[in-house]
Amino acid sequence: MKRVVVFTGAGISAESGIRTFRDSGGLWDEYPIEEVATPQAWSKNPALVLQFYNLRREQVANARPNAAHYALEELRSVFELHIITQNIDDLHERAGSTNVLHLHGEIRKARSTVNPDHVVELSGNLINVGDTCPLGSQLRPHIVWFGESVPAMDQAIDLVSTADLFLVVGTSLAVYPAASLVYHIPENAKAWLIDPNPQLPAGLSGYSILAKTACEGVPELVNHLLTDHVF
Ligand code: APR
Repeated sequence: MKRVVVFTGAGISAESGIRTFRDSGGLWDEYPIEEVATPQAWSKNPALVLQFYNLRREQVANARPNAAHYALEELRSVFELHIITQNIDDLHERAGSTNVLHLHGEIRKARSTVNPDHVVELSGNLINVGDTCPLGSQLRPHIVWFGESVPAMDQAIDLVSTADLFLVVGTSLAVYPAASLVYHIPENAKAWLIDPNPQLPAGLSGYSILAKTACEGVPELVNHLLTDHVF
């Protein structure tokens, strides 16, 4: 079975009503990164950081997977499918995907501030100051903040470097190390970038570009891959 690896960013969830970060009106226009998404922000004002992610969690809970999330899942009938996402939402999973690697954490989970391996699934939408893990420390969002390392990166590189087909969907490729995945495809792999405003690094070869939204472009490409038996 050929291996398809899909790398997604905020753009795949945009048509589910979840705001992207860097488009006009994106989240980082309203909330300065350094006040809500860094270890320093957490030390300075944990209540503000928790409030920011509580709002994100509530929005994700009210969102639904869209045609792009569902279309990717259809690939599983013919290919070995792996999804690597920068998104903290669970829309891939709610569309039925199982092999999902979250590079930047998961909004539905919290973790201990004394032991990063102690991760808990949240039952509600809130983490509050004073909510503690079973070890007794304050719970923090299970999110990779700016300035923190990306523990799943090596696993992601392994997947991309063994892909027969690599699809990149809805990401500005502005944040490293995640964005560096585009450099790891094998020489003979086929790769596509689907994004209405595609921003591939200059000089990168091997990629075809579909300048469409996720809900237009992903079902179209999936249909092409499944019906034209590209492999
Ligand atoms: N369909 C597909 N792509 C879209 C759509 C859409 N409907 N709408 C917008 N986009 C594209 C934009 O053109 C842009 O390229 O989605 C991308 C969003 O870029 P960013 O907001 O930078 O999001 P992302 O690339 O996922 O950010 C990476 O940065 O802030 C951190 O941790 C956060 O995981 C995030 C990381």
